[in-house]
This record gives sequence, C-alpha cells and structure tokens, in this order.
Amino acid sequence: MSSPDYLEEYNVNTKYNLKIVWRYLKQDKWIISTLLLLVLALELISFSDEFLFKYLVDEATLYQAGKITADLFLSYVLKLMILYLFLKGVMGGVFWFIKSQLFNRLESRLMSNVEKSSFWHILNLSYRFHLNKKTGSIISKLTRGVGKTESLLDAITFQFFPVFFRLILSIGIIFYFDLYTALALLVTVILFLAFGVYVSHKQERPQNMANYKEDLLKQNVSDVFINIETVKYFGKEKRTQGYFNELSHNLKEARVKFWDYFSWYVGLQTLILTLGVAVIVYLSFSSYVEGKITLGSITLIYTAIWKLIPYLYGLMYGYRQFIMSNVDISSLFEIFKEENEVVDKPQAKKIKVKEGNIEFKEVTFSYPLRDHHHGKHSFSIKSLNLKINKNTKLALVGPSGGGKSTVVKLLYRLFDLNQGQILIDGQDISQVTQESLRNSLSIVPQEPILFDNSLFFNVAYANPRASRKEVWQAIKFAHLDKFIEKLPNKEKTIVGERGVKLSGGEKQRVSIARAILANKKILVLDEATSALDSETEKEIQRDLSKLMRNRTTIIIAHRLSTIMKADKIVVLSGGKVIEQGNHNDLINNQTGLYSRLWRLQQGKA
Ligand SMILES: Nc1ncnc2c1ncn2[C@@H]1O[C@H](COP(=O)(O)OP(=O)(O)OP(=O)(O)O)[C@@H](O)[C@H]1O
Ligand SMILES: [Mg+2]
Repeated sequence: MSSPDYLEEYNVNTKYNLKIVWRYLKQDKWIISTLLLLVLALELISFSDEFLFKYLVDEATLYQAGKITADLFLSYVLKLMILYLFLKGVMGGVFWFIKSQLFNRLESRLMSNVEKSSFWHILNLSYRFHLNKKTGSIISKLTRGVGKTESLLDAITFQFFPVFFRLILSIGIIFYFDLYTALALLVTVILFLAFGVYVSHKQERPQNMANYKEDLLKQNVSDVFINIETVKYFGKEKRTQGYFNELSHNLKEARVKFWDYFSWYVGLQTLILTLGVAVIVYLSFSSYVEGKITLGSITLIYTAIWKLIPYLYGLMYGYRQFIMSNVDISSLFEIFKEENEVVDKPQAKKIKVKEGNIEFKEVTFSYPLRDHHHGKHSFSIKSLNLKINKNTKLALVGPSGGGKSTVVKLLYRLFDLNQGQILIDGQDISQVTQESLRNSLSIVPQEPILFDNSLFFNVAYANPRASRKEVWQAIKFAHLDKFIEKLPNKEKTIVGERGVKLSGGEKQRVSIARAILANKKILVLDEATSALDSETEKEIQRDLSKLMRNRTTIIIAHRLSTIMKADKIVVLSGGKVIEQGNHNDLINNQTGLYSRLWRLQQGKA
C-alpha cells in the first residue's frame, strides 16, 4: 500500500503551459490564422442580423407614418431577406464547415503530438525516475493532460477570441447610438467578468487538490492490481478495500469542495447581469423619449445585448475551462521539467565492441538516498577494480545485498558513477551513446519480467529483425520448445501481465532465449538458472557454456557449483571485493567466505 505523501501538489504555471502548447501549434500557423479569420467572419455575419432588424423596424415605422408605400416597403423587406439568406445561410454555412474541418485537424494533431512526445519523454527518463514513478498516476496524468490540451485550445478559439470580438462590436455600436447605455453595458460586463475571473482562480486550488486525490486513488488501483497475488495470499481484500474507501472518500470530499463553487457562483453572476439590464433599459428609453434614438436603434441595442448575454456566460465558461485545463495540463507538463541525469554526451559516438574486454577502474557509486532522511547512508560500491578479459568468464558471488546486481546496472549505465570509469574495449561507457552500449550487451536479469503478449513476441523482442527460424533456435536452446508443444495455443500463448501465467522457471527460460537471440559479444547472467530444476539447469548450463566460448561473460550465482569453472571468481560483500581468484585458490583459503559457503553448500560445514 502506498503512502500518500510523496506526491507533491502540482504547480499551475499558465505561461509555461501556453509556451509548451504553442511549441506544438507553431507548425500549424497557417491553419490557425485561417481559423481565426473564419471565426471573425462568422461573428460579423452573425452580427449583421441585428442591423437587418434595425433597418426593418425603422422602415416599418416610416411605412406606418405613411412616408413610404406598401410596395416600396415590401420590396425593401424582400431585398433584406435575400441578403440575409446569402450571408447567414450560404456564407455562414460554408465558413462554418471549413472552420470545423480545420479545427478538427488542428486539435487531433495537437493531442497526438502531446501524447507522443510525453510518452517519449517519460520513456527516456533515467532509471532513477522510473524507480520512483507511480504507474497509475502517470497514466492518469497522461490521459487527463492530453485530453485537456484540447479543451484549452477550444476555450481560446471558441470562447475567448470570438467573444472579445463580439464584445467590442456590441459596445462599439451601442456607443455610436447612445453613450450612457454603452457605458452601463461596459460596467456590467466588467463586473460580470471580474467576478467570474475571481471565482475561477479561487477554484484552482480545490481542483488541484481533487486531481491530486484522484491520482492517489489511481496509483493505488494500479499498485493493488500489480500485487494482486500478495493481496490474495495474505487474504487482505477487506483491508485493501478499506484503504481504497478511504482514498475514495478523500477524493469525494475534494470534489464536493471544488464543485460547490459553482452553486453560488451562478446565482451571483445572474444578479449582476439582471441589474445591468434594468439600468440599460431605463437609460435607453429615456433617450428614446428625449428623441435621441429611434425605435429601430432600441431594437438594435436589445438584440445586441440579448445576444451578448449568452456570450458572456460562454466567455466565463471558457475562462473556467481554460483555468481548469491549465490545472490538469500542469501535472503532465511538469514531467517535461523532469531532467534525465544519465544523458549522452553531446558528441557521443556509438560504442564498438569487437573483443569484449571489460574493465572497472576505481569505480565508486552510491544509490540516491531512498527517502529524504539525512545522515543515513545508502548502499555504495567502493573503489571497485575488475578486469574481465575477452572471451573469459567472471563470476560474481557473495551475500545477498552485496552489490552484484548493482555492478551489472553500472555496466549498463543505468546510473552514472560517482567516481572512476568503466571501459569496454578501452571505450569509457559514459562517453558513448546509451543506446549503442545497451545494444552491445545481453542479459538474463535476476527477475525476468515479460510483456503481456505472446511467448513468441517476448522472445523475439530481443531482436525484432530475427527470422522465425532464429527465434525458434533460441527457444530450443532455452529448452522452451517442449513446453510450448504442450500449450493449446503454442507459441501464441499470452503470458499475462509481467508474465504471471508462466512458472518461475519458464519465465527464466524465456529470458534466456531472449539473451541468446540478442546474440551479443558480452553476456550477463544474473541468477539465470536459479529457478530451474537441477536436470534442466544442467542441460542449459551445458548449452550456455558452449555459448560462452567466444563471449565475455559475467555470471552471478548463489549456487557455487554453477560457477566453479569460471576463469575468475570475485566475492563481493558490502560493495567491496573481499576475495578473488579461481575456484581452487578460493577453496584453499580455509578462512575465506568462499570456502565457507562452498562447504555449506556441499553439506560439509
Ligand atoms: N534503487 C536502489 N536504491 C537504493 N538502494 C538500492 C537500490 N537498488 C538496490 N539497492 C540496495 O543496494 C544493495 C545491493 O543490491 P544488489 O541488488 O546489488 O545486491 P545483490 O548482491 O545483487 O543481492 P542478491 O544476491 O540478493 O541479488 C542492497 O542493499 C539494496 O537494498
Ligand atoms: Mg542481485
């Protein structure tokens, strides 16, 4: 069960978010400019209605006063309606169609680009980041963040931009007809908007909190289901549910707090608007009575205001959308700030491994502290010197936690060293590209983990370019063929998440097959056969020793009988070499750790 306090609240940095979104949008500049023009054109068209009505009312007044004939009036109406049909019906429709087509493309492209680059960024973050990350929360941030870049763009293009334009148009026009009415409208709008902005910002924190609580919940879901076996073995369903309930309760509270802002917000906003409208009505009719404006102009003012009101609500909705999207995006974009500490040097070349000589020179390394406890030391490797000549076998043995797997991780450069160098064929591994380094090593890791895909896929993963025949050779080598034969779906059998549907030994053999298929000059076997029965182990060991003949190999094993033929054996304890030599040298040292372990395993201690 995860403790909820490692996750920090996300910072909301609008400028930073917009900068990143703009980075993606930049390439579609022409689409954006066309879109904006279209949006403006559509606004103008929709605004033309109000004018049409003004002229209709004014002409009607003239007709009623007997100043124009019925025929003249009707032909005027007809002309206006044809204009209306053309503008609104034809132009409006066409523009709207083009606008939505362009927008769909722009948005889907934006989302897909954000998705792809976030995934790539997270994928490439160093091993250290991934040791600490929470899968559930990453999924949550990714989906929420990508989804909300769309809302952000929506808010800007549909809510902000056209509304501001319309606002300026409406107030400008009314200003032309009647100064006081225009001023009253301006004040109403400013009050309305200021209030909306204030509340939206107030909501930022509760929303952030709700997101954070949601991430905790999702994190817990993924943690529980990854560890479902532990839950079942220990019969802890109730306890797990209890903890989940607690998280869910916290999320509920946070959500209510966040949502409650809406309830009083809408009421107050409506009050401001109604007050404004009442003042405007009074003012404009006073002007009418004074003979300053016509009835047609009053119609214009009202249609403009009535149409503006939903826009204002729209603008506020858009603004809130904008703020909310920003909060959601922030948690994703924050990951972009996460720096990779294991990076390729600017001019890093590919490593060339011909011989396979490995050398550890005065290597010193300590793990980052697990928690932020000061004064406590993490495990470290101290001044390690190792030389592994080409085509030889080096065995690493020693107590659990002695640092054997750590040595392998350093060879793979999952971490950078504090001091010293690791050289392969004379090339410092910190100076070459990580990709080329890792492509020149193959490993059977201590804990094989498989993809939730077919057996065949999992083996072939090591070398996607391998032919079917080569993959099958690797499968045979690892003695997996007889097992596959018995499966109803043969090599197409799906192995389950992390390989849960295979036995420990089967997983290990898939892992061995992978390493064989990868076929690299340097081979690392970290407890590669520890989960196998003695018979299979012996068979695989025999094949492995054939395989190791022209490779440099590092073997890690607790069962000393599997490494006694190694060219050199190094005993690691507490991150230090405490003994080294070949098997005979080491067992002759009666007081040494190796000989003691050897006697223990032979049952002679
Ligand atoms: N990411 C990590 N952060 C901090 N400490 C770690 C980390 N990974 C391993 N350690 C610690 O480093 C020490 C050495 O671990 P390592 O895995 O190298 O041991 P090992 O010799 O391979 O042991 P085993 O035989 O049990 O596999 C252990 O005490 C372990 O707890
Ligand atoms: Mg280990």
